[in-house]
Amino acid sequence: MQKILFATSEVYPLIKTGGLADVAASLPRALLKLGQEVKILLPAYTSVLEKAKNAGVKEIAQLNVDGYSISLKQTRLPGTKLTVWLVDAPEFFDRAGNPYCGPDGNDWPDNHKRFYIFAKVAELIALNQVGLHWTPDIVHCNDWQTGLIPALLSLHPHHPATVFTVHNLAYRGLFSYQAFAELNLPAVFWHHERLEFYGQMSFMKGGLAFADFITTVSPSYAQEIQRPEFGCGLDGLMRYRSDSLAGILNGIDTDEWNPGSDSHLNCTYNRRTLANKVKNKQALQEELGLTISADIPLLGFIGRLVDQKGVDLILSQMKDLLSLNCQLVILGSGFPHYEQALKHIAVQYPLKVAVTLGYNESFAHRIEASSDIFLMPSIFEPCGLNQMYSLRYGTLPVVHAVGGLRDTVFESMDETDAEKNNGFVFEEATAAALFAAIQRATNLFHQKDQWKKLQLNAMSKDFSWNTSAKEYQAIYTKITSQ
Ligand code: ADP
Ligand code: GLC
Repeated sequence: MQKILFATSEVYPLIKTGGLADVAASLPRALLKLGQEVKILLPAYTSVLEKAKNAGVKEIAQLNVDGYSISLKQTRLPGTKLTVWLVDAPEFFDRAGNPYCGPDGNDWPDNHKRFYIFAKVAELIALNQVGLHWTPDIVHCNDWQTGLIPALLSLHPHHPATVFTVHNLAYRGLFSYQAFAELNLPAVFWHHERLEFYGQMSFMKGGLAFADFITTVSPSYAQEIQRPEFGCGLDGLMRYRSDSLAGILNGIDTDEWNPGSDSHLNCTYNRRTLANKVKNKQALQEELGLTISADIPLLGFIGRLVDQKGVDLILSQMKDLLSLNCQLVILGSGFPHYEQALKHIAVQYPLKVAVTLGYNESFAHRIEASSDIFLMPSIFEPCGLNQMYSLRYGTLPVVHAVGGLRDTVFESMDETDAEKNNGFVFEEATAAALFAAIQRATNLFHQKDQWKKLQLNAMSKDFSWNTSAKEYQAIYTKITSQ
């Protein structure tokens, strides 16, 4: 058994803006099942303290970081046995808005300070300096918000081993030199082999340069980030650290995302009762004012409306897409120009296109269950969870062959390989290639037997954490025995 401090800026259901929150909830649970002792460390955002109330919140330590008095609180992740430690620093985390931006959508101007304070608290806990009588064997950090933790720990001769997981290299946690000077960091960190990145400070580099081991969230992405196209300027460092880099495919929470028991659905279903899936579709068509018909393929999209997700490709094929006899249901929020363009189309084609802007967990479950086809034309995708939710719900994904999408969705024209097929894959990130894949999907949709076979293939794949959690465990063992 090992003791793991799992530092993250999001964890579902306390706070979520994307897939990191899902992983930060489900990986520690899987590790707990394997007999590891895991404590999650999370900032005590206003909404988190509110949501944690029911599970009970108690103060377990008080500490002082650079003159700020901070309270460390303990709660449980709702519905689990997982302990969550909350860094309650009201000056930094008691705010409206999301973890990274204010209600106006702009990044908080003091994000460098907020996640520096968070890292300092992690450092003190890791060194058993807050009076908890608990020393972790491993500190497992996630994305740029936790990047300073391995850097800070490196300053101590005896410190727990560190793992840094890259969920998305595109968010490098960049700040000015001025911001660096505002933090109480040693001057030696301002160096291109440490935090400095082309004249700026990168929190992500802290994790990449100092962690004992780096993981990322799919085998393909681990390869891609060593190349300039996907390396975001950090590919040289990724190549340099390639001996300590592994791609481990994310699992999903198979209880939360289970069409057989999902309480958000109009009608649950499984492989045996797959015929019931269409009842969800009809209910959604009715609710959204779309033409009610089982025979019209319904295409779903859920996600952040940002360049990464390939929204542009969908928008530029919209005319052709609408010429097919299909419907489109979209749920997302993000860049205003994407939101406006999508809304505009929905107003023009109310019987064919429904666009819901905002964040709605329950609606996301219903779209997964109701759609026939799920669109994920991401330009890059470290892992992606929605394609796995889709597969589990018998909703066949159309994906661009990158990162975790390439590792989970298969379409082979070769008869001998066809047994593995579970979706539609296009190689080039072009609108034409996306459209061709959608056409293949909508054509096959009408071949009922073949469609069902693909659905059953998709639904029978194991996306639980069983295998991947063991891979993390093996890395923990390796780096603590070194
Ligand atoms: P990313 O982390 O890059 O956003 P993932 O596919 O890993 O992409 O995870 C996204 C997660 O966020 C999924 O659980 C998805 O269902 C959820 N999600 C994204 N946008 C929304 C939204 N507008 N409403 C509800 N859930 C959303
Ligand atoms: C990031 C990535 C996404 C991944 C998620 C969880 O947000 O964009 O691909 O699934 O993290 O690891």
